[in-house]
Amino acid sequence: MEIPEALLNRLAKANHVAVLTGAGVSAESGIKTFRDPDGLWAQFNPAELASVDGFMSNPEIVWSWYQHRVEVVNNAKPNPGHYAIAEMQKLFPKLTLITQNVDRLHHRAGSDKVIELHGNIVENHCFDCKEPFHGETNLPDKQLPVCPRCGGRIRPSVVWFGEMLPVGALEAAEEAAYTCDVFFSVGTSAEVYPAANLPVVAKRAGAYVVEVNPNITVLSSYVDAKLPAPSGEALPILLEEFRKYQKFYDDLL
Ligand code: OAD
Repeated sequence: MEIPEALLNRLAKANHVAVLTGAGVSAESGIKTFRDPDGLWAQFNPAELASVDGFMSNPEIVWSWYQHRVEVVNNAKPNPGHYAIAEMQKLFPKLTLITQNVDRLHHRAGSDKVIELHGNIVENHCFDCKEPFHGETNLPDKQLPVCPRCGGRIRPSVVWFGEMLPVGALEAAEEAAYTCDVFFSVGTSAEVYPAANLPVVAKRAGAYVVEVNPNITVLSSYVDAKLPAPSGEALPILLEEFRKYQKFYDDLL
């Protein structure tokens, strides 16, 4: 895979790099994406499993679906794409990592200060009083735990369709998009707003925008560079080429 020289040049000069990730970055860890032909939304109905109405109509089914996803995530490991992004945090003066993923694999790969736009499935809180829940979640038959404070039903701390994103997270992500020099959109279909707007904000503000995705998305014709490969392959190659590029120019000085 060819890495465009313009991208290496922009990265060499960059003070602030922003990375937005989606489900594709975890695909090589064995976690299903949403909108690919074998993705979760081809098999399950998001209105039933990822919305407030869905939870109110059938909380047990929603809870047990998320408990199954927690098991999948707990059995998965970060892949070279997650590790390359964690490595990027050391290579640039400032790196902002924004993820739509709820699987915490970036944390497990060593990234810190991850902006989680859609929350995470590892934590839970009360649907009624919103109090965080730290009690036992692994109940027999995937039963739904009850809030010890108010008796309400416990839900995963993810953002469902129709819910607001965490305000601080969205503000921090937008700020990064406005101010970064290079913006990466990695493993996302760029179809879910407001996350999908971040690459557009970045490009309008003058950043060099790169897409890492083996498939074509709505963003593909808009970006400055496209690395058309799985992120677990493309990002390690990019970092290797970037180190060579930097060494070449350092040796000239
Ligand atoms: P999608 O399933 O919509 O898109 C995943 C993207 O990853 C697709 O464009 C794939 O081509 C790409 N892809 C697949 N394998 C890849 C790989 N190995 N490397 C790089 N890219 C790969 O997932 P998201 O864009 O993350 O929201 O979806 C956004 C939101 O929609 C999710 O956070 C979730 C979902 O509904 C909520 O649950 C609130």
